[in-house]
Amino acid sequence: MRLAMLGPPGAGKGTQARLLAQELNIPQISTGDLLRDAARRHTATGTEARRYMERGLLVPDELALRTVVERMGEGDAVRGFILDGFPRTRAQAVALDEMLASTGQKLSRAVVLEIGDEEIVKRISGRRVCRNCGAMYHAIFDPPRNAELCNQCNGELYQREDDNEDTVRMRLEQYAGKIKPLFQYYEEKGILIRIDGSGPVGDVHRRMLDALKGGAKPA
Ligand code: AP5
Repeated sequence: MRLAMLGPPGAGKGTQARLLAQELNIPQISTGDLLRDAARRHTATGTEARRYMERGLLVPDELALRTVVERMGEGDAVRGFILDGFPRTRAQAVALDEMLASTGQKLSRAVVLEIGDEEIVKRISGRRVCRNCGAMYHAIFDPPRNAELCNQCNGELYQREDDNEDTVRMRLEQYAGKIKPLFQYYEEKGILIRIDGSGPVGDVHRRMLDALKGGAKPA
C-alpha cells in the first residue's frame, strides 16, 4: 500500500497515519516531522525550512521533495509507505509520481481527511507533543497521565511553535490556496478518497479502513 494523507492542519493526518502504519507494518513518512527534526539539528535543510515553518508558510516544493526522497532512500519504504502531509501542491504530486514511476511503482490512494474549522481549532490548541519520542497527545481528547510528561518515555511535553493563532491562520490559508489543483489531479487519476475526519480517533480509523478495503469508491 502506498498512501498519501491529505487534509488541513489538525485534521488528524499524523494520528491516522501512525495507526495505519503500525497495522500495516510500513513506515509513516511525515514531512512536517522530518523538517522539524532537521530544524532541531540545525542542518542546512532544517535552517532553511524553519524560516517558512515558523510563519506558517509551505516550504518550497524542491525542499519538501528532497526531504521525502532522502527518507524514501532509507529502504524500509520498499513494501509501502504512508506519506503524511506530502504532497501539498500539484507540483509535488507530479514529482512524486515521476519518482515512483522510475521504479515501476505508483501511488495506491490519496486520502483526504475532511474536518470543520471549529474542530481544527480545538484539536490544534490542545495538541501536546513529546520532545523526546514524538508521541502525541491532546489535552482533552487524549490527555497524558501527567500534563507535562510523556506516558511512554517521561519526556517533556510541549506545544508546537507553529500552533499559535496567527501561524495556524496562515497554515489554513496556505492549505486552502493549494489544495484544489491537488484534489483535481488525484480525482482525474481516480485515486482520491474523502473521509469524514470528525469524531473519535477510532471511528475515523474504521472509516478509513472501510474505504481502503473498497467500501467507498474514490471521489
Ligand atoms: P505538518 O507538521 O504536517 O502540519 P500540518 O499539515 O499543519 O498538520 P498537523 O501536524 O498540524 O495536523 P495533523 O493533520 O497531522 O493532525 P494530528 O494528527 O497531529 O507541517 C508543518 C509545516 O511543515 C507546514 O506548515 C509547512 O511549513 C511544512 N511542510 C510540511 N510538509 C510540507 C510539504 N509537503 N510541502 C511544503 N511544506 C511542508 O492531530 C492534531 C491534534 O488532534 C492532536 O493533538 C491529536 O491528538 C488530536 N486528534 C487527532 N485526531 C483526533 C480525533 N479524531 N478526535 C480528537 N482529537 C484528535
